[in-house]
Formats: sequence, structure tokens, C-alpha cells
Amino acid sequence: MSINLKNRHFLTLLDFSPEEIHYLIDLSAQVKEEKKQGTFPERLKHKNIALLFEKNSTRTRCAFTVAAIDEGAHPEFLGKNDIQFGKKESVADTARVLGRMFDGIQFRGFKHSVAEGLAKHAEVPVWNGLTDSFHPTQVLADLLTIKEQFGHLKGVVFSFVGDGRNNVANSLMIGAAKTGMDFRIVAPQSLFPDPELVKTAEKIAKTTGGKIRLTDNIKEGVLGADVIYVDVWVSMGEEDQFAERIKLLLPYQVNRDMIEKTGKSETIFMHCLPAFHDLNTTVGKEIYEKYGISAMEVSNEVFESSYSKVWDEAENRMHTIKAIMIATMDG
Ligand code: CP
Ligand code: NVA
Repeated sequence: MSINLKNRHFLTLLDFSPEEIHYLIDLSAQVKEEKKQGTFPERLKHKNIALLFEKNSTRTRCAFTVAAIDEGAHPEFLGKNDIQFGKKESVADTARVLGRMFDGIQFRGFKHSVAEGLAKHAEVPVWNGLTDSFHPTQVLADLLTIKEQFGHLKGVVFSFVGDGRNNVANSLMIGAAKTGMDFRIVAPQSLFPDPELVKTAEKIAKTTGGKIRLTDNIKEGVLGADVIYVDVWVSMGEEDQFAERIKLLLPYQVNRDMIEKTGKSETIFMHCLPAFHDLNTTVGKEIYEKYGISAMEVSNEVFESSYSKVWDEAENRMHTIKAIMIATMDG
């Protein structure tokens, strides 16, 4: 079956069929190999890309920038304090202006409805570089990383441990359902995902042979896991939640004991990053002074161990974002 994603927005994996997701993963692997070989076909020559950021970013910003330049396009960073967006100009008007000048728009911000608004009004593809609800470009990189490690996605036992209702957990649940994984959220019940999204994921999983399970029981949740995945306990915009989250999630820290609970020797550890695994950050130090813990979601031992595939995962952000831009931008 031939797949054509031209002029499609990339706001959530819910909008993409399993075949389309596999197509994007395969294209990512292809562009990764091309780059390793030093081949640069410049498929996006003369394209201009707007990179609109309301929140901070290292990986997503750099991935879009490098991917665009590799392919011959020009990326333009537009920080929230640089342009009229939101203060003097609405989402709809900003979208219509950017859509007349740029060939694609990346948006990272708070409300998912803003990403949808940009997509509704800009006549060019809009790519979601993270909203409060979803982080689909991250998950495409995660799927590529898992496929590289295990050779397949279907049937992979995947345990997401921690804040089970954040943007990354939501997108992973959809990505796992679409690719037929055995997916578990391992979290306190108050941090389980939105029941409506769970229902949707379960419905998708039925069609792909996947499974979706939510549990607050760590032993059951990680038993047999091929992948243990964590994200920060406090996402951007929720910084007033540290005290409560630390209390709730400390038992869910990924450490050697948890990895051993999988009962598997080939388990890999993944994290979208940035991670709080040591005291080499300002926030890490503040947390240590206030709560006496030197790591949050993952121990430094696991983060630095051979289980950890976090640098492959970070690199794959660039290859997958490149594939998304090539696939969706008009040629
Ligand atoms: N994983 C991720 O999205 O990283 P950044 O916040 O640095 O973009
Ligand atoms: N859940 C995190 C992901 C960071 C890449 C956040 O939104 O801050």
C-alpha cells in the first residue's frame, strides 16, 4: 500500500494509522542511515520552517534545526517573547501570517488547543513539538529506538513508570496501542491517565493485538518488561507540584531493584530527557536541599548503566523529526 502524508499535520499519533506510523519509522531509519553514510539529498531545499516555542527545549529545538538544515531548509526560531503571538495577535491570525511565509510550523507550548488552532488556520503542516497533552515526535523517536533494540515493536512489553497522565505517557500509550505492544502504566492511581484516552487506546489495541494495563503495583507492572520508561515527575508548567509528586512517586523511582524486578536480562531503560538523576543541575540541587534526595525518577546508577538507551533515543529525535518533515511537507 502506498502511503502519502503530504500536507498532513502531526499533532497526535491518534491521527495516524498503524501503517502510517510504521512508514514514518521506516523513513526515519532510512534518513538515519543516509546521514551515517554522509548522503544529503536535500529534500527540503528552499523550504522555510517556523519553530514556535512557548516552553523551553534542547532536543526538540535542536532536532528540528539540524534536520531542517541537513535537508536544505531554513529553520527560524520564534520564542514566545520574540513575536506578537498571544499578546497582540491571536492564534488564528498568527497561523495565517506564518502559513503565508513558511512551509511548515513547529509548535511547542501549553494548551493542545493552540496547536489545533494553528493547524486549523495555517495552510501548511503544523507539527506538535509538545503540548500539555501530547508529545508525538518524542514517541516516534522512542518507537524507532525500541525497534533498533529488539527488531520489532509488536508484543514488546513496555512499562511506563511514574506520572502516568502526562504528555509523554499519553502519547506512548497511543503509540504502543497502534503498534501492538503490551503497554503498562505503573503509577499511583491518582496519576492514572484520562479514562477516555485509556478507552480509546484499548479500542485501538484490540485491532493491533496490543494490550493496555494500568496498575499501581510495581511488582506486577514491571514483571517481564522489555522496556522501563520514565519521564520527569513534574512537567513544564506544573512546578508548584514538586512536594506532592515526590511524596507520591518516590516508591516508583527506577533503580537497580526495579530493573531486577522485571526478571529479564535484556530490559532497556528509556527516558525522554531531561532527567533528574544527579545533583548537577540547579533544580536537582534545590530538590536535594529541600527534600534530601539526590535523584528523582531514576537513580544515577541506572541512568549511567548499560541498560540505558537514552542517548540513542535523543539522537533519534533528529532522524524521526526529519522523516516527519519530509513526509508531510509538500515537495
Ligand atoms: N525530550 C524532549 O522533548 O526534550 P526537550 O524538552 O529538550 O526538547
Ligand atoms: N513531560 C515533560 C516532557 C519533557 C520533554 C514535560 O512536559 O515537561
